[in-house]
Amino acid sequence: MTKKVQLTETILRDAHQSQAATRMRIDEMLPVAGKLDEVGYYSIECWGGATFDSCLRFLNEDPWERLRKLRKAMPKTKLQMLLRGQNILGYKHYADDVVDEFVKKSIQNGINVIRIFDALNDTRNMKACIDAILKYKNEDKSGLGVVCEATLCYTVSEVHTREYFVNLAKELVAMGADVICLKDMANLLLPYETYELVKALKEAVDCPIHLHTHNTAGTGNMIYIKAIEAGVDIIDTALAPMGNGTSQPATEPIIATLAGTPYDTGLDLGYVTEIAEHFKGVAERLTKDGFLNKKALQTDVKGLIYQVPGGMLSNLMNQLKEANAMDKYDEVLAEVPRVRADLGYPPLVTPSSQIVGSQAVLNVLSGERYKMVTKEVKGIVRGEYGKLPVEIKPDIVKKIIGDEERITCRPADNIGPELEKYRAEIKEYIEQEEDVLSYALFPQVALKFFKYRQANKMNLDSEIGDVANGIQPVWL
Ligand code: CO
Repeated sequence: MTKKVQLTETILRDAHQSQAATRMRIDEMLPVAGKLDEVGYYSIECWGGATFDSCLRFLNEDPWERLRKLRKAMPKTKLQMLLRGQNILGYKHYADDVVDEFVKKSIQNGINVIRIFDALNDTRNMKACIDAILKYKNEDKSGLGVVCEATLCYTVSEVHTREYFVNLAKELVAMGADVICLKDMANLLLPYETYELVKALKEAVDCPIHLHTHNTAGTGNMIYIKAIEAGVDIIDTALAPMGNGTSQPATEPIIATLAGTPYDTGLDLGYVTEIAEHFKGVAERLTKDGFLNKKALQTDVKGLIYQVPGGMLSNLMNQLKEANAMDKYDEVLAEVPRVRADLGYPPLVTPSSQIVGSQAVLNVLSGERYKMVTKEVKGIVRGEYGKLPVEIKPDIVKKIIGDEERITCRPADNIGPELEKYRAEIKEYIEQEEDVLSYALFPQVALKFFKYRQANKMNLDSEIGDVANGIQPVWL
């Protein structure tokens, strides 16, 4: 059985998030957006993830305005975003009314494919998003449709078996997912396991499978080839100037590899290469400004050896260096899987990777396990992040939180409606309904941006006044 493979281009989102601290600006995207629109990608990932925060915090850009500009410049291709389930694009659980409104506004402003994940694979934390996508599908104005893409966060542990992921996929399809994403954010998948897993998923669910990996450990292209042989429908790649390393495998070699085979993407390699020229310049600018580091492009095999994300190990090393305890590194490395098992095997992604790592350091340096416990570990044990793959053992619970109460419900069930409160708080700054959402997600950062935006307008107005008085500002 053979068939055409489709590509999602990630250069406008994950590629620069992974390699260059999410610092690509809209003026570096728009010059080639029209050309990207002609390539024939399944979708272009260009929004969500860390881009929203980065726009407001570092780039003085309104993320909603960015989305509208991209939509206008790319009318023919499905625009894709990454959504952190009940965390939306932030780092905590938000109320359902905020999730609902966020999904609605994302679709109204031009998003077609919404990829939702939860760091613990707790489907309850994805439900409000999925429901909202189904509810607002008809708000799409692009004519390209809306796709609800639910995610399996891939990780390695004794409970994360093929069967576990297959069951998770079935559950997400039953909840309303149109596409299942297998997300290998830490590049822990191995090519032959990929083949078996993709095959099992294709047999279990009757919907497209979309595979996402990074080339951090150098296995990305092999993962894709084995996935393609197993029948994967869509894969994520990034144009060469910002492909590979901590980013996605590069787009061009995949197009070339599949050309003339039954899996042919049908994309024009020459044309894509022309577009990539533009991003060489962008990559140079990001390097010059100190955001793109050569290290992001080097193959880092630590993840293959320790089965934890490469970034987590550098964090551990930094913590030990600061504590002047580098001699304890091996001990800490051995403690990491024990802490993870104690905490019910959370997938090691942000933020759980840092939480597990810091606790392992504390356990080793204090000389007694859980003598000191971080507040995040307590939060995990209390159930504040959601349901863990495995129930935590009673003696561990007792040791970490004593007799404190634990949550077994969906964490957001304990959060009442928030939207109106946020709207009231920033009344004088609202220029569009979407501002309430920016503020709900990042209150201080959004407020600073609103003030900047207002000040900018007032400056502009006074400059225009000068023009009226016959004084021509040089920048015009
Ligand atoms: Co990624």
